[in-house]
Amino acid sequence: MSYPLPSLPRIPPEIVALTDYEPLAREHLGEQAWAYFTSGAADEVTLRDNREAYDRLKLLPRVLRDMKGGNTQVTLLGETLEYPIMLAPIAYQRMAHKDGELATVLGASAMKAGVVVSTRASVRIEDIAAAAQTRLWFQLYMQPDREFTRDLVRRAEEAGYQALVLTVDAPLNGIRNGLQRVQFRLPPGVEAVNLRGMAQPDTRPRLAGEKVAFGALLDDAPTWKDIEWLLSQTRLPVILKGILSPEDAELAIQLGFAGLIVSNHGGRILDTVPASIDVLPQITAVVAGRVPVLVDGGIRRGTDVLKAIALGASAVLVGRPYIFGLSVAGAVGVAHVLNILKAEFEVAMGLTGCATVAEIQREVIWQH
Ligand SMILES: Cc1cc2nc3c(=O)[nH]c(=O)nc-3n(C[C@H](O)[C@H](O)[C@H](O)COP(=O)(O)O)c2cc1C
Repeated sequence: MSYPLPSLPRIPPEIVALTDYEPLAREHLGEQAWAYFTSGAADEVTLRDNREAYDRLKLLPRVLRDMKGGNTQVTLLGETLEYPIMLAPIAYQRMAHKDGELATVLGASAMKAGVVVSTRASVRIEDIAAAAQTRLWFQLYMQPDREFTRDLVRRAEEAGYQALVLTVDAPLNGIRNGLQRVQFRLPPGVEAVNLRGMAQPDTRPRLAGEKVAFGALLDDAPTWKDIEWLLSQTRLPVILKGILSPEDAELAIQLGFAGLIVSNHGGRILDTVPASIDVLPQITAVVAGRVPVLVDGGIRRGTDVLKAIALGASAVLVGRPYIFGLSVAGAVGVAHVLNILKAEFEVAMGLTGCATVAEIQREVIWQH
């Protein structure tokens, strides 16, 4: 049997929540791709906690409020979003569906959701932009070769991407035993096409031999010193992704980032770091509204979106669930995942007495 399996012609009626996609996605993806998309680092403590932290937070509804004219709109970087949910950057989507990122942006366009496209996309960023009718941001991994990085930025600008998202939490891949156990290899025909011509360092930490992480790999990793250079290379707003520490949040604002994404990379890099939602309040306290703060990791329900907004996020990003939708039903699956999450968010707003996103305040989280 060759993977990924073709899209189903229709979405099975029993799929009513994001997690309902998982068993079918597992079948469609096959062992290797399932391991790639789902694995976390080491014992997957952070991966689990990203999800469980949302369940620990309890909501305290208010009743009998005036809900006339309610809506889910937000303003982000000067633009109106229909609802505060975007698709997180995920690499190599042609491993999930033959059309990969093209199908993803088609589904997101139907749902008017913004998409962050990975540096490691498996389709050219120009072709993705041509297929999209929605807001696109380009996620950048800085390359050891500055000229190559500058070219990537230019290409994203010229193709119409509206912001850059610089991801800094993964100079190494982290130890992903889930991938090691299946001896993961990218399948033939799937590659980071936008990095062609750039020698790709093998970012898997070596667990044998002298140099595990130090040496060339970390020597080439960007530092705060490279940021000024990057910001001078683009007219686009640049958002920093992979922030967990309030000190780093402050540094980032001082340097001129236009926004932050609180993220632990979906629990894939360093295990036992806190759930992103658990550190969000400390970060939003330091940021104090100077730039928008987004959060990702573990968002599977509309109530999770509501909780993130209540703790100060301007918007959230969702990762793996849309890949599962993509693998099962292509663009339609991606749109369906977004539709479920948006509908749940709207219901959660209605039932907590929040007519607008601005009304979702800290008090909606129950304090014991
Ligand atoms: C398979 C996979 C590949 C990813 N690739 C990237 C990437 O290329 N760039 C990036 O910034 N983040 C990447 N991420 C992290 C996601 O953008 C996001 O932070 C995370 O998936 C959110 O958690 P969730 O999957 O629980 O929603 C990846 C995550 C997964 C699961």
